[in-house]
Amino acid sequence: MALAEKKGLRRSLGPLQLTMLGIGAVIGTGIFVLTAIGAERAGPGLMLSFVIAGIVCAFAALAYAEMSAMVPVSGSAYTYSYAVMGEFIAWIVGWNLILEYAVSAAAVAVGWSGYMAGLLQSLGTPLPLYLKAGMFAVHGGGINILAVGSVLVVTCLLIIGTRTSATVTSILVVVKLCALAAFIFIVIPKIDWAHFTPFMPFGFASHEIDGMAKGVMAAAALIFFAYVGFDAVATAAEETRNPNRNVPIGILGSLGVCTLLYVLVAAGAIGSTPYQQLVGNTEPLAYILRHLGFATVGNLVALAAVLALPTVVLMMLFGQSRIFFVMSRDGLLPEVFSRVHKRFQTPHLVTAVTGVMVAVIAGLFSVSAIAELSNTGTLFAFIAVSVAVVVLRQTQPERPRPFRCPAVNVVGVLAILGCGYLFVSLPGIAQARFWVWTVIGALVYFLYGFKRSPLRKPVPA
Ligand code: ALA
Repeated sequence: MALAEKKGLRRSLGPLQLTMLGIGAVIGTGIFVLTAIGAERAGPGLMLSFVIAGIVCAFAALAYAEMSAMVPVSGSAYTYSYAVMGEFIAWIVGWNLILEYAVSAAAVAVGWSGYMAGLLQSLGTPLPLYLKAGMFAVHGGGINILAVGSVLVVTCLLIIGTRTSATVTSILVVVKLCALAAFIFIVIPKIDWAHFTPFMPFGFASHEIDGMAKGVMAAAALIFFAYVGFDAVATAAEETRNPNRNVPIGILGSLGVCTLLYVLVAAGAIGSTPYQQLVGNTEPLAYILRHLGFATVGNLVALAAVLALPTVVLMMLFGQSRIFFVMSRDGLLPEVFSRVHKRFQTPHLVTAVTGVMVAVIAGLFSVSAIAELSNTGTLFAFIAVSVAVVVLRQTQPERPRPFRCPAVNVVGVLAILGCGYLFVSLPGIAQARFWVWTVIGALVYFLYGFKRSPLRKPVPA
């Protein structure tokens, strides 16, 4: 916190902007695209998957809110872990936040590119497969040019400045909310209850069938992605007016709105259309509306996704650049990463580096593989924050807490167990990639960060 006061960002965000920032970061590829893959994994039980993932996120959100109100500096789970569990654990958490922010930005960009490619096709300009999908996504793919382009444009917006970007975000959040509301309004009355049986055709626990993870928990572990992003609000604490009050409002408000919408969208989607019809669909919400005879609304929903998903990429990149900024300020990354642009007042260099990195991932991989890898890092961060909250209540009970997580020993422990269960429900390959990434992170720390931390430098007399 002392370092934050010395090298600060401009405080420009208020409570409504912050809630908008939360909704802007949360609603995205998860509900617009992964709904189809989730339905393939769980059948109608996908509704239950959304409820389970939503409840786990609510527990984790309460922990986040307590922490973000108590430690109102940029950096999210990284900062909280630093404050409670020390530098090494914080580094590992920060390292895995790269999966949560940078990698998820890539997944959202790929999800967006599916809707955009569909739109271009309907306008008579279909893209060839080698420009439409990454080489590791489908056989015959090359580079997902639309995903790369969207990431680079968003990066430029972020460099110009938070305030401009947040205003644009607010408008597009409204567009996104209108699209989901229209979907729910039209589709819910069309529900055929026969589509809900059997409710769990692949059972509850995650297990592999024909190389694909199936079951309600397998879907929950994937569509957990749809909830990721509410902590981008916490990440922006340092740029928020009166953060002790506004950050918890932003987190819990945005998560509440999104949970309600997701459950309604999932019920409407599966209740109105047999889930088998959604398999492999890259624009399921638009497809369902067209299929029900509402072609124009379907096209408008697709257009809304095309307009609004880039805001999610924006929020994720924003979060990532701020986390890198804080880690650099703490001396764990090169100092050049925490330089603030004189005119724009943004950490421009770190934003540019992040953008290029994300563009490469988005250009090459499939949306589900990227989302699953991202989920591993996010779940790890949620567990770390929940542990930090529970531990801090024991070790520093007197410390002022502007927002107190209710029944912290129950909520915190349920958040840890819930996130752990979601983690082990992910496909084995995603879990393996996570551990490889974590070991690389530990090596980087001992070869670079450990020696350079300002905590290890002598205090000047
Ligand atoms: N929750 C965000 C999405 O669904 C990351 O796209």
